[in-house]
Amino acid sequence: MKLLLALAALVALSAGSAIPLVPGDNSDYVEGESRYIWMPDGDGVPHLVDLQEPVDEALLNSRNGANNQYWLFTSNGNSGINPLITSAFLAVVDANVIVVDWRALANSNNATATNGVPGVGQFLGNFLVRLINTAGGNWNNVHLVGFSLGAHIVGSAGRTAGGRPVRVTGLDPACPLWSGNGNALNANAGVYVECIHTDGETVCSVCLRGTPGLFKDYSFVIILYRCDIKHFYNKLSNPNNPQVIVNGNANTIWNSNYVASRPLKIIVHGWNGSGNSGLNNAITSAFLAVQDANVIVVDWRALAGSNYVTAVNGVPSVGQFLGNFIVWLRNTAGGVWTNVHLVGFSLGAHIVGVAGRTAGGRPVRVTGLDPAGPLWQTNSNAINRNSGVYVECIHTDGGLLGIFNPCGDADFYPNGGRNVQPGCGDSSCSHERAHDLFASSVRTNHFVGRLCGNLNQAQNNQCSGSTLNMGNGIVTKRGSGLYGLTTGGWWPY
Ligand SMILES: *[C@@H]1O[C@H](CO)[C@@H](O)[C@H](O)[C@H]1NC(C)=O
Ligand SMILES: *[C@@H]1O[C@H](CO)[C@@H](O)[C@H](O)[C@H]1NC(C)=O
Repeated sequence: MKLLLALAALVALSAGSAIPLVPGDNSDYVEGESRYIWMPDGDGVPHLVDLQEPVDEALLNSRNGANNQYWLFTSNGNSGINPLITSAFLAVVDANVIVVDWRALANSNNATATNGVPGVGQFLGNFLVRLINTAGGNWNNVHLVGFSLGAHIVGSAGRTAGGRPVRVTGLDPACPLWSGNGNALNANAGVYVECIHTDGETVCSVCLRGTPGLFKDYSFVIILYRCDIKHFYNKLSNPNNPQVIVNGNANTIWNSNYVASRPLKIIVHGWNGSGNSGLNNAITSAFLAVQDANVIVVDWRALAGSNYVTAVNGVPSVGQFLGNFIVWLRNTAGGVWTNVHLVGFSLGAHIVGVAGRTAGGRPVRVTGLDPAGPLWQTNSNAINRNSGVYVECIHTDGGLLGIFNPCGDADFYPNGGRNVQPGCGDSSCSHERAHDLFASSVRTNHFVGRLCGNLNQAQNNQCSGSTLNMGNGIVTKRGSGLYGLTTGGWWPY
């Protein structure tokens, strides 16, 4: 009996410190015992991580979790407004919604596009007259809506139609080149003309009060920002090129596309990643595909690129800096906490956990994508349900690179929550599947979880209780409990 015990101990010891040989293969890893594990970097390439490597104290102290970069992405307001406004109209009334596509001219330089406005407006006005003469209809239910240059187009169209459209709405009518321009939107464009200003500025004050009679019928004026005339046109969108917001420097907010009234989404990468890691783009583009949002990608590569143990030790301070950054952003630029959604992958999940608690648990949603497992079993800095109003964890490589135990209000265990996920060959792939599933869920919200009685049922994918969808970007989402579901092996899963 003694011999057997000694043997067992020996086997455990050698299993614990054995170096796994196949990159990405963690099948011999034993949680809490093994010394080595393969972990993917930001590009999904596995690296051998020594969980007993000494902490790089000099790096930790010199960085102190600061100097992270906050990259802002916003959506293409120009084309994004069409589905947004169309679906809003159709949600409340059965209407004919016509979207005008004048891209051939709209895509030319600003002076050319501006000079083309009267012509586009006249064509649109004539089209409306012909439509109503030919197919019937009543001018008392014709409502024209235009954004930026489009506002002047509907102005011109309304006048071409003799001012008969019963409503004309100008959404932040374009300012540059419109000072004293007789083709600008004015009160003659329709029976009732309303303008909503969100980016007015001194240089463009003609839009507000320069031309007599202009906007005399507006019902309300909202001025959130002074616009930067040089950047007026490219300010409309930057879905691909980030603007950097610097903590404590308010000008970096004013010079960016940040709009306080829009939802705020923050994405945090994992170990050895950066702002350029693939998951950021996948999740950012998913968010921007469904709504106009401020998406901020956190780049903490200086610490994330250190050895894993050092990176783990840096998580609390990176999280605190992020939490303080969000509080500063809210205090400086305005906005409500009920549309703040933090999303973190692997070590990034624990960072958003700390950030949310630093912000007093006010972020309305916090999503942990396969929160990192190694060295997190008993770590009080791990993501937990105090990190936000509603905290959700999605487990795909539980027990290996991810934690398996519940860590949120609701925890999802797709395909059992462990390696091997469908379509994957190893633990790295299973781990990364969490952010792919999330990006897909934001776009189509098609993952239906079923409540489990206990963790065992979750692991065996035997859950059949009430439903709650996994992931998505809906800020009003709430729920609790463990959920299981089955996904496909390839996008969109
Ligand atoms: C728009 O046109 C004005 C006047 O021609 C010019 O000064 C400005 O640089 C142009 N802006 C852009 C973004 O092209
Ligand atoms: C992080 O990834 C890079 C690029 O794949 C690699 O060269 C580097 O060794 C990794 N860092 C650590 C600490 O393993």
